Amino acid sequence: MHVAYAPKFLLSRGPDGGAADLTDNEKMVILKKITLESKKERYYMNLYEAIFLRQSVRQFSMTPVAPELLQRIGTFYEQIRPLFPGISTEIGITENVDGKHRLQGLFGIRAPYYLTIYSEERDRAEMNAGYICGQLSLYMVTLGLGSCYIGVSWQRDMPLARGSMKLIMTMAFGLPKGPLMRRANEARRLPVRELCVYKDEPVRWMTQVIEAARLAPSYKNSQPWRFVVVGRRIHIFSKKDGMDKPRKWVEFSFGVMFSHIAVASEELWLEVDLIRLENVSQKNFKNNQYVLSAIVREQTEGAFK
Ligand SMILES: Cc1cc2nc3c(=O)[nH]c(=O)nc-3n(C[C@H](O)[C@H](O)[C@H](O)COP(=O)(O)O)c2cc1C
Repeated sequence: MHVAYAPKFLLSRGPDGGAADLTDNEKMVILKKITLESKKERYYMNLYEAIFLRQSVRQFSMTPVAPELLQRIGTFYEQIRPLFPGISTEIGITENVDGKHRLQGLFGIRAPYYLTIYSEERDRAEMNAGYICGQLSLYMVTLGLGSCYIGVSWQRDMPLARGSMKLIMTMAFGLPKGPLMRRANEARRLPVRELCVYKDEPVRWMTQVIEAARLAPSYKNSQPWRFVVVGRRIHIFSKKDGMDKPRKWVEFSFGVMFSHIAVASEELWLEVDLIRLENVSQKNFKNNQYVLSAIVREQTEGAFK
């Protein structure tokens, strides 16, 4: 069998493995402040901070990254609690420091590594994969690595399926040739007033959660999400004119956006439940389709009983 695709490691995680609640130690790994030496500056960053600084990186140095960092990406993946724990996923990392695996197609990005995520073919598989990749992309920033989702290209060497798992997304990643980060106000994003309606005066943490969601990357920067905040509930809608975009990439983008909500909530000591509320789903909106609601609670409630 011709296997040009040779992942450094391939990790699987099904409903029974890795989806369990994180231990305190694992949380420490996720939130641990990692020291980065870059241009003689020191960055201390966690995932939440990375939300404000991340940008797509499309130009890479072909220098290999320390194997330890690749291993850390794998370990981090294993600790992510999926959005839908019943959906099994796998990731692989293809090393390409010799440039042989260049992605084909108009938007091919030459990168020293490609991360591929495979999933069981289930309802919401793309959203679940987006939720995982959103966190991987932020984690890479904390390691000093840039990344870019590649939705439109195909790669000759990447199998479209691995057993019953289908390829959902490829992420190019590695050490960036140019800047790794930008300031949040440099991100091309719609202003909050166009994305969100607050039915009443929001508490501060709610505006922080919405800001994290607003900064999420999306397919062609389409930002298909709209939010209606009622008290501690965020009702999340998808703009119908975003529907001309491939459905799977809209779903994937929603997953990435939910990962920003999850990371912000973790940082702000909030608990979030994502649920579909029948009373909202039955409402008819002309331009927006209901997706899910996030019910946000403060973790400190009742903490010192
Ligand atoms: C589902 C999805 C697919 C994407 N596909 C591509 C792609 O094929 N090529 C590319 O250069 N960027 C791609 N992107 C990156 C987006 O264009 C980018 O995230 C968006 O323009 C926002 O820019 P930023 O990531 O720098 O904030 C994709 C992003 C997502 C979420």
